[in-house]
Amino acid sequence: MAARLWGSRFTGSLSKLSEKFTYSISYDSKLALYDCMASIAHAQMLGEQGIIPKKDASALTGGLKILMKSVEDGKYVYDPSSEDVHTDIQIKLKKLIGQPADKLHTARSRNDQVVTDVRLYCLDHLDNIIALVEGFQIALVNFADKNQDVIIPAYTHMQSAQVVLMSHQMLAYVEMLERDKGRFQDARKRTSLNTLGACALAGTSLPTDRDYVTKKLEFDQTSANSIDSVSDRDFIIEIASAAAITGMHLTRICEDWILWVTSEFNFASIDDAFCTGSSIMPHKKNPDVLELIRGTASKFPGRLMELLVLMKALPSTYNRDMQIDKPALFDVVETIADMLELMAQVVAGIKIKKDIVKERVKSEYFFTVDILDYLIKKGVSYRDAHDTVGAMVKECLDHGRKISDMPLGQLKKYSMHFEEDIKNLLKPEVSVRVKKSLGSTNPDMVKVQINKWKKRLK
Ligand code: ARG
Repeated sequence: MAARLWGSRFTGSLSKLSEKFTYSISYDSKLALYDCMASIAHAQMLGEQGIIPKKDASALTGGLKILMKSVEDGKYVYDPSSEDVHTDIQIKLKKLIGQPADKLHTARSRNDQVVTDVRLYCLDHLDNIIALVEGFQIALVNFADKNQDVIIPAYTHMQSAQVVLMSHQMLAYVEMLERDKGRFQDARKRTSLNTLGACALAGTSLPTDRDYVTKKLEFDQTSANSIDSVSDRDFIIEIASAAAITGMHLTRICEDWILWVTSEFNFASIDDAFCTGSSIMPHKKNPDVLELIRGTASKFPGRLMELLVLMKALPSTYNRDMQIDKPALFDVVETIADMLELMAQVVAGIKIKKDIVKERVKSEYFFTVDILDYLIKKGVSYRDAHDTVGAMVKECLDHGRKISDMPLGQLKKYSMHFEEDIKNLLKPEVSVRVKKSLGSTNPDMVKVQINKWKKRLK
């Protein structure tokens, strides 16, 4: 049995099953690096404040740096009989530097230690996630930039509706991701809080300098209330919530692209690096990576719910329940990071089937709203224009006709406002070009947006 940080008042020992059930070393070892970092700052503060002798502070710092290096090099071996990563590091430090190790836990408790470690872990991963969101945005903007001439059908209710620039669609994803990034950045603000020094829950009578530790660990602020410091896990829930929304966005993007690569849509192909074949149907190329991103995203709302239920109705301060926020947190941040990185790779490998897409935007039904607007510009009311175009569509559907084939005389029967120029509207390039409203799919406006994003994301 490994030494514990709390053994002295006990005569008996934890049952084997209790050990198995309560030990967290199997998952909280992911905090090792952050535990060393926080302990180094803490030890330096203890030395600076004269709470422990300077030479002990240097011994602690020296030993912790050695342990930190072995964690970074992947050489640190976790002892499964240690209760948690904090205990394991404490034991290894004692072996390494001897007696001064016993002074490290002065003016702190695992309650403030664990939440501080988790905050450092989150900050590191949030920075990575924010960079990955941006990486995906950049990949989308590059794609939009390279394919500015491509016009695709767009859908509502999954029924063909109007034509848009493919770039416009890509920039729609960029907007969604910008909000996602904002949510992670916002969560980061509340995560960047030094909680170390709150001790068990009430603070300490020792003359600590908490702001010193805040500066050393590059936190933005020092927590103001020791009870809240050890109680609060909101920041984890916020991160899980931001990940759940981002994950939901990724599934919608995946779904669009999965449709694009079906033989029915056939707008594009995905690079072989992200697809697999079928064991029985030799012709198949399945978009497995996109499907698995869509599928795996289901875990985010589950993990978010798990964290909310975990924290619900917990009394103030630290409760052991809080230990199991970690599997959920680690799973969320690691999975969302992988997904974002993959998405950026997938978009770089999308090839548009330009000739096929060109055929798909020829139907005149895509342009009915433009004809409607034509009549409105000539003073016709919206309702009358809708009825007129509706009657034309019915005639075309019933008799397999095209508006472009109707002689002017016939067009005039629908509305005396029609002139030959109405036929100019029946082209996809014109349909995107005539859009004028801010944020529309007009190619000039989309170009402005592409340039704006290129500048912003640099
Ligand atoms: N492994 C524990 C956790 O992650 C450490 C804190 C235990 N603190 C305590 N007072 N029992 O929450």
